[in-house]
Amino acid sequence: MLNIALPKGRLGDKVYDMFEAAGYECPQIKEKTRKLIFENEEKQVRYFWVKPSDVSIYVERGAADIGVVGKDILIEYEPEIYELADLNVGKCRMCVAGPKDFRDSGEKKLKVATKFTNTARQYYAQSGRDIDIIKLNGSIEIAPILGLSDVIVDLVETGTTLKKNDLAVLEVISSISARLIANKASFKFKNKEIETVVSRIKEQIKID
Ligand code: PRP
Repeated sequence: MLNIALPKGRLGDKVYDMFEAAGYECPQIKEKTRKLIFENEEKQVRYFWVKPSDVSIYVERGAADIGVVGKDILIEYEPEIYELADLNVGKCRMCVAGPKDFRDSGEKKLKVATKFTNTARQYYAQSGRDIDIIKLNGSIEIAPILGLSDVIVDLVETGTTLKKNDLAVLEVISSISARLIANKASFKFKNKEIETVVSRIKEQIKID
């Protein structure tokens, strides 16, 4: 049985559809219940819905053999996993954002609010800019509006959240999309099954 960790939410629904189209269906998963684990014995797959930022923890520790996670999480936490494919869904950008007219004078420490503290630290370390990190867990866009920070480092997908809050992208740090990942030991011991999933999933990737 192959254990597969999927990110709960909109991205997870899209990704499950790719697995279904690849021949690994598990129809009960579509019934919107609070159930979190689903298996199809005939296809030898067991799916779990987990918090998107937890997928790589399940995979790294071997509770899941494979999973789907945003590249943002891989950059931020650098889990010991294999990255097998870019699924070309869940596309967005990691950005520095702030008030439209914000200019960094470079004088005092730059106050940066973010969920992605390692990503932000690494980004500003490249240019040697001294920063003060404020770790938040959500609704990051509020921070510069209330003066808690000068800028934010966050994901931007459509740009609507920034626009509705009178903020703008100031710098793009990286492009993000969903990645298929595998546990290192599983990749060795369940290699045939995993390679089959990977090649069938690759057939479902839509290139734009
Ligand atoms: C994410 C991200 C931005 C928003 C970007 O937040 O942190 O706030 O989506 O999307 P947009 O560019 O399409 O508006 P999420 O909805 O995950 O909630 P959060 O505030 O808890 O981070």
